[in-house]
Amino acid sequence: MNKTFPDGFLWGGAVAANQVEGGWQEGGKGISTSDMTPNGIFGDVVARQKGDFSIKDKAIDFYHRYPEDIALFAEMGFSCLRVSIAWTRIFPQGDEAEPNEAGLAWYDALFDEMARHNIQPMVTLSHYEMPWHLVENYGGWGNRKLIGFFERYARTVFTRYRNKVKLWLTFNEINMSLHAPLTGVGLQAPCSKGEVYQAIHHQLVASGLAVKACHELIPDGRIGNMLLGGLMYPLTCKPEDVFATLQDNRSWLFFGDVQCRGAYPGYMQRFFRDNGIALQMEASDAGALRHTVDFISFSYYMSGCVTADKEMVQKLRGNILDMVPNPHLASSEWGWQIDPLGLRTLLNLLWDRYQKPLFIVENGLGAKDVPDANGNIHDDYRISYLNDHLVQVREAIEDGVEVLGYTSWGPIDLVSASKAEVTKRYGFIYVDIHPDGSGTLDRSRKASFYWYRDVIHSNGATLKE
Ligand code: BG6
Repeated sequence: MNKTFPDGFLWGGAVAANQVEGGWQEGGKGISTSDMTPNGIFGDVVARQKGDFSIKDKAIDFYHRYPEDIALFAEMGFSCLRVSIAWTRIFPQGDEAEPNEAGLAWYDALFDEMARHNIQPMVTLSHYEMPWHLVENYGGWGNRKLIGFFERYARTVFTRYRNKVKLWLTFNEINMSLHAPLTGVGLQAPCSKGEVYQAIHHQLVASGLAVKACHELIPDGRIGNMLLGGLMYPLTCKPEDVFATLQDNRSWLFFGDVQCRGAYPGYMQRFFRDNGIALQMEASDAGALRHTVDFISFSYYMSGCVTADKEMVQKLRGNILDMVPNPHLASSEWGWQIDPLGLRTLLNLLWDRYQKPLFIVENGLGAKDVPDANGNIHDDYRISYLNDHLVQVREAIEDGVEVLGYTSWGPIDLVSASKAEVTKRYGFIYVDIHPDGSGTLDRSRKASFYWYRDVIHSNGATLKE
């Protein structure tokens, strides 16, 4: 008898508003940072009034086609779907006193559709986008006023959806602000390390206030943080490499430490001292940070290596983190090194450190899918990637780690975040979309669709060790 996952384990997929919805100017939506970066989160800002093409404007048109997509997710047996709310649909500029009813109504319809299929929503408040108006007129999260604007937005959606949404996440991959400050904290280049950490501080305070608001407004709800799980290994067992790796892992664990333990850790105080950074904090900030999350969610795509030997650093750009290639691992077509066992390591590491339930809210393989003569996609490479990672999740659960669920990234093809590509596909569902915006946007099932359906229906028993 094959091993299954615990009863009540949540199975599903994860998407983000700006990567699937489209409808960028429908329903009173305002312009977001994502709308202003049509070439992805590392691309330049493009003034949209020039009418430049952005694949994200329509994306996969989830804005209009969500009933069909949710029916397909239900066919696979999803019990959970992670989506995000576009802040600009609710507060188009970000600083209004009253929300936009059309935006609120659209998410009502989306959550109702999920409920009809018994799919529980998990909602990210901010997934790689914020109102552009707040960037231009306030300087993004560098400005303390953002804390209040975000709290108003969070309280608005908690109040509106309190009976429909019980699982919430604050900021997607909050540690990514260190690598993509515009997307993360709305800071335009050039900005110093000190400015980035000041903006991050405001975001961490806002995260604490969102946790507090969620607990007040939705007593039976749960709210988590969301980390980019950037697991690093030492390249060698040289003590210098081991220590450099400890420091590297702390650069992202710092966010978890604040959000799970409620205060800045000592090693960050030292980091600030060493780098001449003096954060401006107000008296109430410490209290806000003490509102810690109920669970930890994270993305995991790959691991990397660290060396203290500067000469040896050949930089590999993988998921934005600069890291040294691991000689023992193969890579995806995008150079992301594939390490299923790393997921078990990461789950154990986070559990040992925080003793809070964990949720894997992103994991998947971006690949070029080529339909055969009949239009079918045999994505065995994706099945193998996901199978091997899920086997390690099951092992971690056997290790004693509490894991609430798994939502694979991109259950349907979508626009990638890094470079706004559509040739990099993650889905179980193929979407007929091409880089120039051509394509019917028709949906079709890949081989992995049937594979994932069987995994879910057997609660993991069909996975191959
Ligand atoms: C995570 C993001 O970094 O990775 C997603 O939360 C993103 O938004 C995903 O899509 C995969 O990255 P990419 O660049 O392949 O889309």
